Amino acid sequence: MPKIKTPSEPQQATAPFAHRVLEWFDQHGRKNLPWQQDITPYRVWISEIMLQQTQVATVIPYFETFMRHFPDVDSLAAADTDEVLHLWTGLGYYARARNLHKAAKQVSSEHNGQFPDTVDALAELSGIGRSTAAAIVSIAFQQPATILDGNVKRVLARHQCVEGWPGSTRTQNALWDIAEAYTPNHRSRDYTQVMMDLGATLCTRSKPLCEFCPIKSDCLAYANHCQTDFPHKKPKKALPEKFTHMLIVVNDSNEIYLEQRPNSGIWGGLYSFPECKAPTAEITEIINDAPPALRPALDSINHIREIEQWSQFKHTFSHYHLMITPVIIRLNHTPLTIADGNQHTWFNTKAPGKLGLAAPVKKLLSKLA
Ligand code: ADE
Repeated sequence: MPKIKTPSEPQQATAPFAHRVLEWFDQHGRKNLPWQQDITPYRVWISEIMLQQTQVATVIPYFETFMRHFPDVDSLAAADTDEVLHLWTGLGYYARARNLHKAAKQVSSEHNGQFPDTVDALAELSGIGRSTAAAIVSIAFQQPATILDGNVKRVLARHQCVEGWPGSTRTQNALWDIAEAYTPNHRSRDYTQVMMDLGATLCTRSKPLCEFCPIKSDCLAYANHCQTDFPHKKPKKALPEKFTHMLIVVNDSNEIYLEQRPNSGIWGGLYSFPECKAPTAEITEIINDAPPALRPALDSINHIREIEQWSQFKHTFSHYHLMITPVIIRLNHTPLTIADGNQHTWFNTKAPGKLGLAAPVKKLLSKLA
């Protein structure tokens, strides 16, 4: 990782972070969203939960319908869970709706229908984390409280070139420290909103609109032209490796033996080469391990014209690498294959039928053709 430069522009006497973003908010911030009207803790809470992992445009109609059905926390607490889930249908992440209903019952029974006004007390409620609690405190109660949702993490990770994946405790703690240091003790509602707005409208994941950004003058990522490197991605786990030999049996008409894989497991229902897991590259061992349908063809060396092993290559699944060694076995006849429960076919690369083929199989067949 190259050393991070400090901003290349001469530092003007820059106004504090909060001052600059609030000035931008006055001109460009979002002020007409439905949950920004008739602000109550209940409306803010519902909107914040709906807005987790969901775009504003998607949320708006759901929010309005929800408010018509459940205008306050007591009506939500008294509802049937099915009714709540019904109104959530299409928003996804249904655990949010279940937790929402649970929290409404908590507020109704344990807090007399009044939302608590501190981050700690709100974060005790079902489905409310530290950042959502802070959004409610700052927007609804207009008290200073620091948020750190996905959008804000991106803004701050870029502004300070914060190393590491924000899902890790260490990086998350670093981001919370910065977020807290920047939070002003006035205009709490607007500051929370503008931090979300900056992340959603300017400091976007790809192609951020830095030229328009009120904090570009001291943004380290901007100075270093590395905005899109931040926040860092989740480190990839080293995947385990599995090994297999694919037996590519070619008959004297240049057709290739394929069999249909079981419906469950990798490449379920697709056609593929028979495989054997023989650990060594001994051809006799590989042949002995061949599927029953091919035994008559392979049981005598007299049937085999040529055997060739190609170099190993890698096919990666989400949870492991499959190291594939192709073994080409050219026969001097077309064997009558015996049925062994697997559907199989002799595949003609010049007249390929409409078979579903696993990706590496397709690759090997075109190499053979
Ligand atoms: N995303 C999360 N909270 C939001 C809010 N209050 N306004 C716009 N987008 C948001």
